[in-house]
Amino acid sequence: CEDRELVVASNRQPYSHNYEGETDDRGAIDVDRPAGGLTAALDPVMQAVEGTWVAWGDGDADREVVGPDDTVAVPPEDPAYDLKRVWLTDEQVEGYYRGYSNQVLWPLCHLDTAKMTPREEFWREYRETNADFADAILDSTDDAGSDPVVWFQDYHLALAPRRVRNARPDAFLAHFWHIPWPSRDVFRACPQYEQLLDGLLANDLVGFHTEDYCRNFLDCVEAATDARVDRASSSVSYRGHRTFVRSFPLGIDASRQADLAESDEADEWWAEFSETHGIDPSDTLAVGVERLDYTKGIEQRLAALERFWADNPERRGEFTYVQKGTESRSGIEAYDRLQDRVAAEIERINDRFGTDDWTPVIYTTDHLPGAAIAALYREADLGLVTPVRDGMNLVAKEYVAAQTRDPGVLVLSELAGATDQLGDGAVLVHPYDTPGFADGIAEALSLSLAERRTRVADLQREVHAKDVYEWLESTFETAAAVERGRRSLR
Ligand code: G6P
Repeated sequence: CEDRELVVASNRQPYSHNYEGETDDRGAIDVDRPAGGLTAALDPVMQAVEGTWVAWGDGDADREVVGPDDTVAVPPEDPAYDLKRVWLTDEQVEGYYRGYSNQVLWPLCHLDTAKMTPREEFWREYRETNADFADAILDSTDDAGSDPVVWFQDYHLALAPRRVRNARPDAFLAHFWHIPWPSRDVFRACPQYEQLLDGLLANDLVGFHTEDYCRNFLDCVEAATDARVDRASSSVSYRGHRTFVRSFPLGIDASRQADLAESDEADEWWAEFSETHGIDPSDTLAVGVERLDYTKGIEQRLAALERFWADNPERRGEFTYVQKGTESRSGIEAYDRLQDRVAAEIERINDRFGTDDWTPVIYTTDHLPGAAIAALYREADLGLVTPVRDGMNLVAKEYVAAQTRDPGVLVLSELAGATDQLGDGAVLVHPYDTPGFADGIAEALSLSLAERRTRVADLQREVHAKDVYEWLESTFETAAAVERGRRSLR
């Protein structure tokens, strides 16, 4: 596919433009980079391959900076590719983004069906918005000559491939699903399960992080459609079209992460942060970094930490936990409530164990630059990455890559996709097993320097070998092989 124009489509854009001031005094325009694994992973990829990225223009100054085709060149400081913005109405944001994507598909795929609210208008807006995305993609492929390559990202855009396929039978369509794919009994809890599969099966290639998710997807297709599933080739024949299903575990830019950890900016930030919070070099530190999302297991982790301090009074005063939480999906009740509960729990734990000169949990929701987060990872003796369910989890990989000095220990949930790759070198815990989790923290703290070195070396080998560029390469190699087969069948 090398010499063909690439269009990437995702809900979230890699850069948003926002006025510095409030509405009355709008002032200059800032460029913001959103939180979340998807955009962080794909931006370096797009800078390397160029092409067009189609995404929702959600910044309040986004319209100011685009040309007549709704496109702006990014990154702003050194443009390498085009960002084409799709504009959503308030109803669409409510129904498609907050509603169907994040109150139906997100809980469904993270096995939390009790949180699903499948309202009729959510589905309507999801359908309409997927059509809008498909039209923007078709618009941007008009000049691309024949056979464009379109790469859809994630659960927001399950229906768009079918509409693009109908208009451009020649296009090569691939889709990467960044979150888990549930087993078929869970998936059927979604009333629109057949339509979702119909949309996704318009792709030539569908990718997931792990083999388990691929298997679950094929099981769902087999149970819910009249498609022919060929397990040997991991492909599906449906409506005269063949879709290949493959696992591509997403990675990070590991070298960049290591450089960030060793940067002057990281040193300066850490010097100030540790002074502000009275963190001594001899103290023991654990860190958690995530969007404030109920899938990340923050409350379960706080419970385990509380148990640990209760069981190990000698650790009070010297073992501190830093929680970096990023506000996410506000306006959705489950998220608003979680934000409140996390803040209240931290306050309660700090009241219970804190003293005049020690705060057990340092909590920040401030925006932190990449170098600051890398410094936190580097300094932390433990990286606590313990989601109750996660498609992959790139924080686990970032923590590993940032162990450039005295190596820390990754404490990882059994229920994260990343466990397939990193399970052997990590201390594994079950997020709901509070006493077992607390023991896991104690175990991780007891590992010798030699043991920590061996584990980190093994983990770093994996994270560097399977980095985001390798992910891209293996996706494109598979796409090229599928495409060759497709052409020979024409
Ligand atoms: C996860 C999803 C991404 C999403 C990100 C942030 O990583 O897989 O698609 O962009 O969360 O969530 P948000 O709703 O802010 O885009």
